[in-house]
Amino acid sequence: MCGIVAYIGKKHQALGFLLDSLKSLEYRGYDSSGIAILEPQEQIKVLKSKGKLPNLFEKITHKKLSGHIGIGHTRWATQGKPSDQNAHPHTSKDKKVAIVHNGIINNYAEIKEFLIAEQKELEFISETDSEVIAHLLSYFLAKSQNLKEALRKVTSQLKGSYAICAISKDEPDKIVLATYQTPLVIGFNSDQELFCASDSAALLKYTNRIIRLNNLEIAELKIDGSYQIYDQNDQVILNPKIQVLPNQSFLLDKLGYKHFLLKEIHEQPGIIREILNSYLNEEDQIYFPHLKKELLTEVKRITILGCGSAYYAGLVGKFIFEELSGLPTEICFSSEFTAREKVINQDTLVIAVSQSGETADTLLAVRQALEKNARLLALTNRAESTLAALAEENTLLIKAGIEVSVAATKSFTAQITCLYLLAIYLAEKQENNSTEKLKELKIKLKTVPHWLDQILGRGKDYRKTIIDYCHKKAFVFLGRGINYPIALEAALKLKEITYIQATGYASGEMKHGPIATIDQEVPTLSILTQKQNQHKVLHNAIEAKTRGAPSLGLLSDEDWVLASEFEKVLYVPSIHCDLLTPFVSVLPLQLIAYYLAEYLGKDVDQPRNLAKSVTVE
Ligand code: M6R
Repeated sequence: MCGIVAYIGKKHQALGFLLDSLKSLEYRGYDSSGIAILEPQEQIKVLKSKGKLPNLFEKITHKKLSGHIGIGHTRWATQGKPSDQNAHPHTSKDKKVAIVHNGIINNYAEIKEFLIAEQKELEFISETDSEVIAHLLSYFLAKSQNLKEALRKVTSQLKGSYAICAISKDEPDKIVLATYQTPLVIGFNSDQELFCASDSAALLKYTNRIIRLNNLEIAELKIDGSYQIYDQNDQVILNPKIQVLPNQSFLLDKLGYKHFLLKEIHEQPGIIREILNSYLNEEDQIYFPHLKKELLTEVKRITILGCGSAYYAGLVGKFIFEELSGLPTEICFSSEFTAREKVINQDTLVIAVSQSGETADTLLAVRQALEKNARLLALTNRAESTLAALAEENTLLIKAGIEVSVAATKSFTAQITCLYLLAIYLAEKQENNSTEKLKELKIKLKTVPHWLDQILGRGKDYRKTIIDYCHKKAFVFLGRGINYPIALEAALKLKEITYIQATGYASGEMKHGPIATIDQEVPTLSILTQKQNQHKVLHNAIEAKTRGAPSLGLLSDEDWVLASEFEKVLYVPSIHCDLLTPFVSVLPLQLIAYYLAEYLGKDVDQPRNLAKSVTVE
């Protein structure tokens, strides 16, 4: 949610970096944006605009905005509707202080009351919780020796979560930063330039060396390229941990595709190959080089946590863990974890699935699980994330590369690939399992990228088929067993990017209620790629068809004989392995969501009301 960026350095003007990095962070929030630039002897210059970044860029054109220190923000509104006033940066009354904030200040009302009591004439310009930070910082600045000390006083008053960057006209050689439960990284290079961002993706073009600020730390970045990080007791941290990021800046380019989403859908076969190369050796043995050995030994039960697509990936995981290893596995929405907390102990392997590694609901659930001494395995795309920091070496990277489009696609298939490997690995440890069967599954898993390449080659057919349904009022996706999560994921994808109402059901559940919603305006797409239960899904599809639903089927090539039961069919290659059908089922359904959204002219990569990484509960 919300993107924060900051620049300080003598080599360049701040503006270039701010605009460029805001562009690469826009996927974190895009309902308004703004910048503030500091130049000695001058007022802080602030420009803000409702809407997407081009609105801000337009305001900036023809403005003289020189200065070597600046902060910027792109917003996903939590409190206060998207507007110029509610956009960040926020300033103090005398305009000497400017801040950008990511997170939520729960006690903003009390702080506001306090400030108004102290300074009768104080006026609040915005409806946001964040504005109190600017006024409080100004208030404490008058009672402190410097900006850093004032920021410490401010953070001691805040309840909630925050990543803050602040500048002050009276200390025109520095930026100060603070964070609690919200990510913030500092980047630096050999030109004595310092950068700051809420997501390291924003820094990729400028540096690959970063330091992650930990909870309650405060940092002071100086114009001469020096920096100090202070722990919560205000002691200087002598050797903060420097992380070196892999060079992934090319992933921030559409590389000729019309949208990031389409590019990311096409990256999936390559990503699965990369995962298999990384975690399978030449003898097809699974190895996870970083995981502590004891993490996966004598596991008695598994709890998988996730939100949105990560949850649906976890649901596929539940199915394969139980099927292959027989380990009781539960899947839990991270936001509902408190309800399950009591059954967690040191024998529970908690697998937290999160592309960003910054999803607030998942982080909270993980912290609660750690309090119960659970073993934690983080399945994430971001090595530098808070989740990875919580799991330390017990982090399994899904290696999907930066996912820019707000709708998850490649991270979903990367997550399930890793879950298959984990499930096979755990199954190999159970004595009662057939080694031959598991060996065969690994061999089949290696052929998945090939099938996915074939499916991508059928994109035009899928597009032609689905466009006929573009004006329908709702869609229903039906699946059973291991393809039930795929029905849920397909519905999520469709509604996220087309805004058409869509629901996924376990197909047997249709007749217990949802079938009442069916009519000729509600196409029903049934997933029949799996042999087991295929006839049951078919019956449920026919039940819907009988009630007037335009009936679509997702079939393997070899099942063409079933096509006569459907109005239209999407075909996938026959893979002869039920357990791996989620891969071939999900890809055409991602594609049809994309083609519908693109045909309807929707904002595919940045759908309304959403943000890539949800850092508020
Ligand atoms: O970064 P995470 O994997 O933790 O994100 C979880 C969900 O917010 C995410 O999957 C969301 O549902 C996507 N927009 C789905 O396309």
